[in-house]
Amino acid sequence: MVKICCIGAGYVGGPTMAVIALKCPSIEVVVVDISVARIAAWNSEQLPIYEPGLEDVVKQCRGRNLFFSTEVEKHISEADIVFVSVNTPTKTQGLGAGKAANLTYWESAARMIADVSKSDKIVVEKSTVPVKTAEAIEKILNHNSNGINFQILSNPEFLAEGTAIQDLFKPDRVLIGGRETPEGQKAIKALRDVYANWVPEDRIIATNLWSAELSKLAANAILAQRISSINAMSALCEATGADVTEVAYAVSKDSRIGPKFLNASVGFGGSCFQKDILNLVYICECNGLPEVANYWKQVIKINDYQKTRFVNRVVASMFNTVSGKKIAILGFAFKKDTGDTRETPAIDVCKGLLGDKANISIYDPQVTEEQIQRDLSMNKFDWDHPIHLQPMSPTAVKEVTVTWDAYQAANGAHGICILTEWDEFKALDYQKIYDNMQKPAFIYDGRNIMDVEKLRKIGFIVYSIGKPL
Ligand code: NAD
Ligand code: UGA
Repeated sequence: MVKICCIGAGYVGGPTMAVIALKCPSIEVVVVDISVARIAAWNSEQLPIYEPGLEDVVKQCRGRNLFFSTEVEKHISEADIVFVSVNTPTKTQGLGAGKAANLTYWESAARMIADVSKSDKIVVEKSTVPVKTAEAIEKILNHNSNGINFQILSNPEFLAEGTAIQDLFKPDRVLIGGRETPEGQKAIKALRDVYANWVPEDRIIATNLWSAELSKLAANAILAQRISSINAMSALCEATGADVTEVAYAVSKDSRIGPKFLNASVGFGGSCFQKDILNLVYICECNGLPEVANYWKQVIKINDYQKTRFVNRVVASMFNTVSGKKIAILGFAFKKDTGDTRETPAIDVCKGLLGDKANISIYDPQVTEEQIQRDLSMNKFDWDHPIHLQPMSPTAVKEVTVTWDAYQAANGAHGICILTEWDEFKALDYQKIYDNMQKPAFIYDGRNIMDVEKLRKIGFIVYSIGKPL
């Protein structure tokens, strides 16, 4: 029986390994993590992450050929293939702070593999890493290897949160990069054989190591660039009377462009787009390519601009002040169908409104008060560290209340900001909400999910992204 060990039981390690275990009953998969709490949650009824379909997959294989454990050393040493799926946050200090990837967690995982291995292993980079990381990892593994052969593969993950299980079941592609030596090619084949249990052969792409590492950064940069492109257009739409939804639709009909990733929004969030683009910018700078670095930096700048523009619009339309006014925030997660709040635009919007002394009342169906308070009191970039290392919020932000009820959040509010596109927000009783709000009652739809005409008929003043008033 082939044994797989995955280091890192997070948003990627957990779902990816659960799907490998489901699709490959003859492989034993053990997911290990240094976080005792996270592993305990994976072994409980309440999984540590919310992801549609995940619970069902885990229940089918847990205890059969899928295990979650804190015995990191034991399971690494027994494995034939070791996936490393630890977090790779943006550095907060030292060389490259604010841009470069912090490979501390990766390096400590690699040192652990080197220390405990007694047999040959394939080590798979699952985390998103700077191009050329495999070279550094090879140095760590091969130093003191005692004759053990390590083959490094790059196998970046392309799943999106909220649709992780369906993305893993039917990936657009599986990318495997390896050395061009016979040993490297043999390792690629071994990993290809794992995926071939359910992924069609023509969707499994083999490249050299550096192409695989860079393709992941390139894919995220280009996806984020599309959002910044349509968001930049949304500002021009608001200035001219064009409607960004109509523009996006017309543009998307060009088969060379296509319809996906053209939804204008309050800005993109999530743990990866910003981090990976900053990482790309840093790599370009280190390689003497300032023009290329500046090009990609602009994608982040437009995203920041979009969030600031949203806050300015709220404040300006409410007679230039939100001081002492209650503003309801519907949705705090960075997108629907996840409880993940890493780099969610809601953090910047809430901080912006708090800066103008608003009282905010937040409702999100999947995010706890503790998480929201932690997010709002944390410094930029401090969020992407294992949950157990994140500082507890020292004092709750007192102008912020968090509720489990959208109607309560909106009760007595001057305005509502919709910051996540949860389906349930479309089905709320807006007449009831309107009746219990201060007048004039404002709605700012940061996701363009609402029926604007219907809301205006009720009496709301509605602002959407990139749409005429
Ligand atoms: P995460 O923070 O949810 O999970 C990482 C886990 O690794 C944590 O539970 C942490 O405790 C554990 N860990 C850190 N160092 C460890 C060590 N030395 N030994 C054992 N465990 C250790 O992160 P994530 O969202 O799963 O992302 C992981 C990687 O995958 C990142 O590089 C990210 O860029 C990439 N990625 C993420 C997504 C996504 O949707 N979240 C998608 C594709 C790729
Ligand atoms: C993204 C990529 O889509 C994945 O392929 C990649 O594996 C992952 O990053 C990663 O490397 O972590 P994710 O961040 O989970 O996945 O979610 P997306 O669906 O890409 O959404 C990212 C952000 O962009 C969200 O805030 C979303 O609301 C926003 N978005 C997305 C828009 O504002 N408009 C769109 O048209 C699409």
